[in-house]
Amino acid sequence: MAVVSTSLGGAAATQLSTHFSGLRKSFLRLESSNYTSSESLLLNVDSHLRLASLYKACRGVVMMAGSGKFFVGGNWKCNGTKESISKLVSDINSAKLESDVDVIVAPPFVYIDQVKNSLSDRVEIAAQNCWTGKGGAFTGEISAEQIYDLGCSWVVLGHSERRHIIGEDNEFIGKKAAYALSQTLGVIACIGELLEEREAGKTFDVCYQQLKAFADAVPGWDKIVIAYEPVWAIGTGKVATPDQAQEVHVAVRDWLSKNVSAEVASKTRIIYGGSVNGSNCGELAKQEDIDGFLVGGASLKGPEFATIVNSVTSKKVTA
Ligand code: PGA
Repeated sequence: MAVVSTSLGGAAATQLSTHFSGLRKSFLRLESSNYTSSESLLLNVDSHLRLASLYKACRGVVMMAGSGKFFVGGNWKCNGTKESISKLVSDINSAKLESDVDVIVAPPFVYIDQVKNSLSDRVEIAAQNCWTGKGGAFTGEISAEQIYDLGCSWVVLGHSERRHIIGEDNEFIGKKAAYALSQTLGVIACIGELLEEREAGKTFDVCYQQLKAFADAVPGWDKIVIAYEPVWAIGTGKVATPDQAQEVHVAVRDWLSKNVSAEVASKTRIIYGGSVNGSNCGELAKQEDIDGFLVGGASLKGPEFATIVNSVTSKKVTA
């Protein structure tokens, strides 16, 4: 069954993408209502000149609309034993990983120490969740301080399994993000719509509300990576098409540009998650606004995870 496109499909999506030129977005709006025809002409000439010079300079340059480094996270969820994790770590340690990628794995809490003590420093570690504030009398919770103490540099927040199975809401997740950042952790901030929300044409509304909750809570975006993970694609084997993913990624970047700043929109990595595997990552990585992946099931296999990390090569422009 094909998953419906968003309400911004077709002509509107084409119009959105025309706001961008070349390898980097210009964030210039060229609508005639805002500019006189001579201003429009100058802006168009300017963008074509920039485009031409970029193409000259772009041999081997990574094809990305954002300016951040490619980022691939492996979310191991509630999987593994000491033994299977030891094998997974050894497979990752022996894999060849492209250098121009930030690589992160998120083991279950109870195995973080084991992973920290055996995984190569080339790969950073994330926790899969954290408490909203300082630790104390919160049975069963783990604080950002403890996560940092174990040697993690990231935490995944707002994952759909926490939103929809555990019942975490936008405000609660925003609070966690703010506190994690205050403890110097980076945040992998997950957003994404349910199937019925997509079918009702609410994909953008849902994603924007989730983004706004993060934006309202955090003091800055330097250490935030946004993971767009349509819920219908998570663990289902039903991956979003490259066009479906790109359409939302470009909208997320546009939202950041309008509601935060053009600089944040350019710098913030927007990664895709939902049934990414070794076979589909190359086509997804070619999309201009896909800056990496958050991977569940396929991250439990070392060689396949390495293939996904190395899909950064799909972005390279062949001269
Ligand atoms: P999946 O999970 O790759 O197994 O679909 C992705 C995620 O939940 O981050």
